[in-house]
Amino acid sequence: MDLNGSSAVVTGGGNGIGKALCLALASEGVNLAVADIDGAAAQAVAEEAKGAGVVAIGVATDVTSEDSVNALADAAWEAFGTVAILVNNAGVMHPTAPLATTSAADFDWVFAVNVRGAMNGIRAFVPRFIASGQESRVVNTASEHALGVPHIGGGLYTASKHALLGLSDVLRREVPEHVKVSVLCPGIVASTLWRASERRQADFGGAASAPEAAGAFMDQIGMPADEVAAHAIKRIKAGDFHIVTHPHAVGIARARWDELKGAFAAQAPRREGDAKYDLEPIMRQLMAQPTTQQGGGS
Ligand SMILES: NC(=O)c1ccc[n+]([C@@H]2O[C@H](COP(=O)([O-])OP(=O)(O)OC[C@H]3O[C@@H](n4cnc5c(N)ncnc54)[C@H](O)[C@@H]3O)[C@@H](O)[C@H]2O)c1
Repeated sequence: MDLNGSSAVVTGGGNGIGKALCLALASEGVNLAVADIDGAAAQAVAEEAKGAGVVAIGVATDVTSEDSVNALADAAWEAFGTVAILVNNAGVMHPTAPLATTSAADFDWVFAVNVRGAMNGIRAFVPRFIASGQESRVVNTASEHALGVPHIGGGLYTASKHALLGLSDVLRREVPEHVKVSVLCPGIVASTLWRASERRQADFGGAASAPEAAGAFMDQIGMPADEVAAHAIKRIKAGDFHIVTHPHAVGIARARWDELKGAFAAQAPRREGDAKYDLEPIMRQLMAQPTTQQGGGS
């Protein structure tokens, strides 16, 4: 995909990976709607992006609100006439804690931002991408936490990033050829993610102080966000599904696969006639019928 002259919307674009993606896209000649719950940060990134000679707007957006994301889509189409790239990047991390003592409020918050936020983006943008017939991209920022379990203590975050991988993997099979879906799966990146709770909306318990030690740690060992962004832009152009950045994370994916492979070998090895339980061709047939709304799953 030739990015030059196209337009993109990046949620969580006011800081960290989102900001780096915005600036990398601008340097490729992409017009930008920088969306963030921190409207001033979004505006500042838009101003910086304009330095690359593109049109850029900052839009105060709360991705947990469907109305807010729909208004973002309207603002982007009004500013650019068309949009070809959506990056569902806004995300939050809860304070590290074992799952058994993690609060219900944190569950609601993490899933509202990380998962419902992306779904709000998918609903607001994907039908327009499909209708446009133009080459388009949907990028969901997940994490190495989508590939397995990098560490304990981040259970809600891990679960939310698994959900994003699932959403992305289904979405890519539901959209026409001209819409490509990517899932960005970085390991640790230097960013302000550790301060997420300082921006927690009132509906989810309001602002709370963030652990300084986590910030020092992220800055110390995190990959620079512009390195992640520069790599991601190349893969977005190519339309790759998995966008991976941290080589060690292959071990996380491999550990899961090795364990699963062992479980199947021991408990349910392939046998004659077992394909009769395969839902995929049945669901494909059902979904091809225009009025089909039935659910299915296992
Ligand atoms: N930093 C890492 O180590 C790392 C690793 C893998 C994946 N990620 C993911 O990358 C994405 C970006 O995170 P980051 O590390 O750049 O963190 P960050 O905190 O620097 O940036 C996240 C941005 O999202 C915004 N945001 C938070 N809630 C929002 C909401 N409700 N609506 C709109 N915007 C909202 C914040 O204001 C912030 O500007 C997240 O999805 C995160 O989970 C981060």
